[in-house]
Amino acid sequence: RLGGFPHYMQKEIFEQPQVFYNTLQAVRESPDALDLLRGRDRLTIVACGSSYHAGLLYKYLLEMYCGVAVLVEQGSEFKYYPPPLSGTVIGISQSGETADTLAALKMAQSRGCKTVAVTNVVGSTITRMTDATIHLRAGPEMSVAATKSFIAQLAAGLGITDALTDGSHAEENTRINVRIEEILTIPITEAVGLCSSASSLFYIGRGLFYPAALEGALKMKEISYIHAEGYAAGELKHGPFALLSGETPVIAIAIPGAAYPVMLSNIKEIKARGAPVIAIGLAGDIELAELADIFIELPKAPESTAVATVSVLLQRLAYETADSLGRDIDKPRNLAKSVTVE
Ligand code: M6R
Repeated sequence: RLGGFPHYMQKEIFEQPQVFYNTLQAVRESPDALDLLRGRDRLTIVACGSSYHAGLLYKYLLEMYCGVAVLVEQGSEFKYYPPPLSGTVIGISQSGETADTLAALKMAQSRGCKTVAVTNVVGSTITRMTDATIHLRAGPEMSVAATKSFIAQLAAGLGITDALTDGSHAEENTRINVRIEEILTIPITEAVGLCSSASSLFYIGRGLFYPAALEGALKMKEISYIHAEGYAAGELKHGPFALLSGETPVIAIAIPGAAYPVMLSNIKEIKARGAPVIAIGLAGDIELAELADIFIELPKAPESTAVATVSVLLQRLAYETADSLGRDIDKPRNLAKSVTVE
């Protein structure tokens, strides 16, 4: 049943190279959904939890590469405080049954919007209520923690970006599954040791790596029960700095790009306040390696590929930390796989 894996979560993490490939294919085979997204100068996204973090990734991708303004809203807020609406609203939901996301989509429809579902479950409620669907094709996700569905949502975002830019990302996208494969075996024992003895963790990143930081922190708290917070790196000095000490490791994602130099400055500021830094960067980054207490190096890749490899790495960090603490990984306390009440 688990093919030799001790938990569904680990099995699902290891399925991700294939899932990424399947989802890219699925987007190419969803012309109705793509038609509702093309030619818009503005899109709205509604989602919850990890799917909301995927929505934030879509915002960076679509704004950076397609020049489309994207508003991302949590389903639970949207229904009661809807923004001015027009055009197409995308609902992202692994299960297709999350009550808050469904209610938000209903509200958008009542305001005359077209709706597109991005979901993993064929025949789910979201697919029956929206105008078009992109099926993620990640296969059933059994673990409560979203892993392969999150990577599939990211793949769909990259596939949509490619479709809206006439294939400009196609070549790069097809290489991502191989890159993910490489991440599955990178040694992270030292980082796991540091995280499992901490009572509080911070995750920081900028641009695409900000939602990746939010998702990494969510995964860590969900299955390890260690308090973890994701921040846009520039925000840490606006309050959270007061919490930094030798007992609060900071996981800093520093991938070369527009914000790279300022990320290095942020890491120096954190070090000066005594917090140990686990830096995630690209192979051969000597400056980052020297700054960090622990340096995890990923294969060299552009940002839109690195966001996939970083996300998988952070899933592993959460999984292996939770495992070392003996947590009930596939069924964390107080949580259900799908939240069907508002
Ligand atoms: O099925 P959905 O994608 O709509 O679920 C949304 C959230 O409940 C879900 O992503 C949750 O945050 C995960 N358990 C996180 O791992």
